[in-house]
Amino acid sequence: MNILITGSNGFLGQHLSDFLTEKGFSIYALSRGENQNMLNKELKYHSVNLTDEQDVRAAIAQIMPAVIIHNAAMSKPDVCHNNKEECKLQNVDATEFLLKASAPFNPYFLYISTDFIFGENGPHHEDETPAPLNYYGQTKLMAEQLVKQSGLDYGIMRPVFIYGPAFENMRPTFLHWVRNSLIQNKAIKVVNDQHRTPTFVYDICKGILAMIEKRVIGEFHLAGKDILSPYQMAIAVAESLNLETNLIEPVTSDTFPEPVIRAKQSGLKIDKAREILGYEPISFEEGIRLTFS
Ligand SMILES: NC(=O)c1ccc[n+]([C@@H]2O[C@H](COP(=O)([O-])OP(=O)(O)OC[C@H]3O[C@@H](n4cnc5c(N)ncnc54)[C@H](OP(=O)(O)O)[C@@H]3O)[C@@H](O)[C@H]2O)c1
Repeated sequence: MNILITGSNGFLGQHLSDFLTEKGFSIYALSRGENQNMLNKELKYHSVNLTDEQDVRAAIAQIMPAVIIHNAAMSKPDVCHNNKEECKLQNVDATEFLLKASAPFNPYFLYISTDFIFGENGPHHEDETPAPLNYYGQTKLMAEQLVKQSGLDYGIMRPVFIYGPAFENMRPTFLHWVRNSLIQNKAIKVVNDQHRTPTFVYDICKGILAMIEKRVIGEFHLAGKDILSPYQMAIAVAESLNLETNLIEPVTSDTFPEPVIRAKQSGLKIDKAREILGYEPISFEEGIRLTFS
C-alpha cells in the first residue's frame, strides 16, 4: 500500500516514516528542501512545497497514494501569530490544495491536528466544541473543517506535546532541552501552571497504524495518560537520569510574557482511541526511559 506522509522532514514525520517503513508499507515522503531522513534508504522522497498547487497536483498524480497522512504544518504558535498570512497559506491553503489534488484517487486522508483547537478546561474529549485561543489553533481547526467537507474517507488525529528520541537532523524536544541544560549545570525556569498530556511519539505511530488499518472515520485523540505540567515533566526527566532537580525552578507562565495565548489546562482524553483502536500509551516515566535509552 502506498502511503504519502507530508512534512516528512519534521519530528513526527521522520519517526512516522521510519515506523511505517518497518511495518512494510511503501512510504512516499514529501517535504520542503532536501530529504533530512537519509538513514531510511527505502523512503521515496519528493521535495515539494505544499503551497505550490501545481507541484502538489503533479506529485499526487505521480504517487497515487492509497493513504495520505497530512502532517506538514507551520507548527509553532508564536511563529504563526507573527506571520498570520504565511501561517494560513501553510496550514489551510496547503491542506486545500492537497485535498483537491487527491480527490480523483480517493485516498484515506489522515490529518494530523492538535489539542490547540480547544480552549481551557482540558483534558478534552473528541466531541467537545472547539475554541482555539490563538491563530495556530484557528488555522488547524480551519484545516480540520476542510478535511471533513472533502467527501474523502478521513481520520483526524490530535496529539499533545509530542516527545521521543531525537536522531540526527531532528529537532530536539523539550525533554532534550531539560537534560542538556542540567548536564551543563545550567539553572532553568519551567512553567508549573500549565498542564498537558505529553505524548510519546511511538504511541502516536502505533495509533496511526491502527487508524489506517481500521480506516476509521472521524476524530481520535492520541495522547499520553499522565497529566503533567512542564515543571513536573522536567523533574521527572532529572530524576530518571539522576540529574540535579535543584536546578529546576517552578515559575508561572507570566514569567515568559508572549503574545500567544496558551491554555492553562489542556490535554486530551483517550477513551475513544482505547475503545476503538485498542490504543494504550506508555507512562511518561517509561517514555523518558525510551527517549534516552
Ligand atoms: N510537536 C508537537 O508537540 C505537536 C503537538 C500537537 C500537534 N502537532 C502537529 O503534529 C504535526 C507534526 O508536528 P512536528 O512537531 O513534527 O512539526 P515539525 O517538526 O515542525 O515538522 C513539520 C514539517 O512540515 C514541513 N512543512 C511545513 N510546511 C510545509 C510546506 N508548505 N511544504 C512542505 N513541507 C512543509 C516542515 O518543513 P521545514 O522543515 O522546512 O520547516 C517540517 O519538516 C503538525 O501538524 C503539528 O501541528 C505537533
